[in-house]
Amino acid sequence: MRLLDNKIYLENDELRRIFYVKDEEKEIPYYIQDAIVDLIFKEWGLKRKYNNLNDLELIEDEFVEKVINIIDNLYKVPSKTDYSDKHITYIWYYLPNNMYKIWQPLIDLLIAGELKNEIRLLDIGTGPATLPLGIIEFYKIIAENLKDKEFILHFDLIDSQKKFIDYANYLINKALLPNNLKVEVKSYVVNLKDDSIIKKDFKYDIISISNFINHFEHKKHFDAFKFLKNLGDNLNEDGSLIIIEPGSKFECISLKKIRNKLINEGVYNIFSPCVPVWEERDEINCACFSTYIMKIKKPKIIDFLISKGLRKSKKREHVSYNYIVLRRDGLIKYSIEKNKQSFYTFKEIFEKQEKEFRVNVKGIVKKKSKKNLSFCICDGTIPDKDYWIKIDDTASNITKEAINKLNMGEKVSIKKMKIVKQENVVNMILDLNSEIKLFF
Ligand SMILES: C[S@@+](CC[C@H](N)C(=O)[O-])C[C@H]1O[C@@H](n2cnc3c(N)ncnc32)[C@H](O)[C@@H]1O
Repeated sequence: MRLLDNKIYLENDELRRIFYVKDEEKEIPYYIQDAIVDLIFKEWGLKRKYNNLNDLELIEDEFVEKVINIIDNLYKVPSKTDYSDKHITYIWYYLPNNMYKIWQPLIDLLIAGELKNEIRLLDIGTGPATLPLGIIEFYKIIAENLKDKEFILHFDLIDSQKKFIDYANYLINKALLPNNLKVEVKSYVVNLKDDSIIKKDFKYDIISISNFINHFEHKKHFDAFKFLKNLGDNLNEDGSLIIIEPGSKFECISLKKIRNKLINEGVYNIFSPCVPVWEERDEINCACFSTYIMKIKKPKIIDFLISKGLRKSKKREHVSYNYIVLRRDGLIKYSIEKNKQSFYTFKEIFEKQEKEFRVNVKGIVKKKSKKNLSFCICDGTIPDKDYWIKIDDTASNITKEAINKLNMGEKVSIKKMKIVKQENVVNMILDLNSEIKLFF
C-alpha cells in the first residue's frame, strides 16, 4: 500500500490479505458492541455490573422481548417508520447488520486509486453513525498499514432524530484510533425534504446515504430523484455519491430506476458496480435484480437476542444489499476495454449461427446461485436478460474455487467457455478446458 498525491493505492494481493476481502467474514469490533450495551443500559436506567457483554443477562426478559418484537415486525409495511420507540432496537440489531455495507463501495474506490488520506464526508440519515463507524474501521486498517502517513476523516452527519445523533456521537467517540488517524465530527439534527438543498459551499469527497431513500423512511410523494440530483452540487469534482439500499428485489429495481434517470439526464455517471465493459454508455435503461452478499459473523449482542427467541436472521451469516457509486467526472471502476481482441460480446454469441463453439468473454458479475453452481455476468450488450453460466463437474478446482468467491460487481474474464445452442436455449458452460480470471 502506498500514498501518492494524497490518494491511497493497493499493491499485489493486499485487498485479500489486509482487508480479508473474500476470505473471511467481517466481525463487529468488541468496543462497538460494548458501547451499544452502554447505551442500552443508560436508556433503560440500568447499572452495568460485569462491564462486559455478559451484562446483557441482567436485562429483564420483558425489555428484550419488546426489542425482538419490534425487529420481527419492522420494515414490513411500506410506510414511513416512526423511530420514537425504536432507537435501542436499531442500535442493537440494525447497526451491526449495516455498518460494513460501506466497505464494498470503499473497496471499489480504493481499487481505482480514488480514496484520499484526508476526506470530507457527509452521511445523510446517519442513524447511530452506522456507516461512519464502518468507514472508521476501514481507515483504521489503512492507517495501521501506512504508519508513517496521516489520515483524517471529517464527518458531517445529518439525521432527523436527535436521539440517533446523540448515539452517533457517543459511538464514534468510543472508537479506538491509531495515532495517525484523526476523526472529526459535526452533527446536525435536520428533517430533510426532497427539495432540501445543502449550501453549495459545503463540498464533500464522499456523500453517503444508506437505507434512506426508500419508502420505509418517507411519505409516498418523496421524490428521491430530485433529492439525489441536488446533492451533485455538494460533491467535489472527484467526489462520489454512495447509495446503499436493502437487498430486496423491489428496492433493487426502484434504486436502479432512479439511477437510470440520474444518468440519462446527465447528472452523474456510474462509477460502480454496473459498469459497461466494451463501450461507454450515456444512457442506461436496464433495471435487473442483483444483490451484493457480504459475510458477517453474527455479533454476540445479536446471538443474545437469538437465544431469547429472535427468529430473524437466525440462520443467516451474511447481509445482502444493493449499492451504487455515482460520480460527475466520468470515471468508472474498470476502464472501458478498447481492444476486444479474441473476445466475444454476449450479443455476438447469440447472433452466431453455429450450434457448438468456444468463446472468450468478459463481464461484470450480476448474480450467483445460492449453491455456487452457476452465475450471471453482464457486458452491457444484452443488459436486461440473465444468462446463467453453469459449471461442469470437469471444471478445474481453480475455476470452482474462483467461482465460490465471486461477488456482484466484480469483473471476470473467461477463456474457452463452451456454448451449446439448442433451439432457443443458449447453454454456457465452464468445463475442464475453461479458465476464469477475477480482477481482484
Ligand atoms: C433505516 S435508518 C438508516 C440509518 C443508517 N444510515 C443505516 O444504514 O443503518 C434511516 C435513518 O434516516 C433518518 N431519516 C428518515 N427520514 C429523514 C429525514 N427526512 N431527514 C433526516 N433524516 C431522516 C431516520 O431518523 C433514520 O435514522
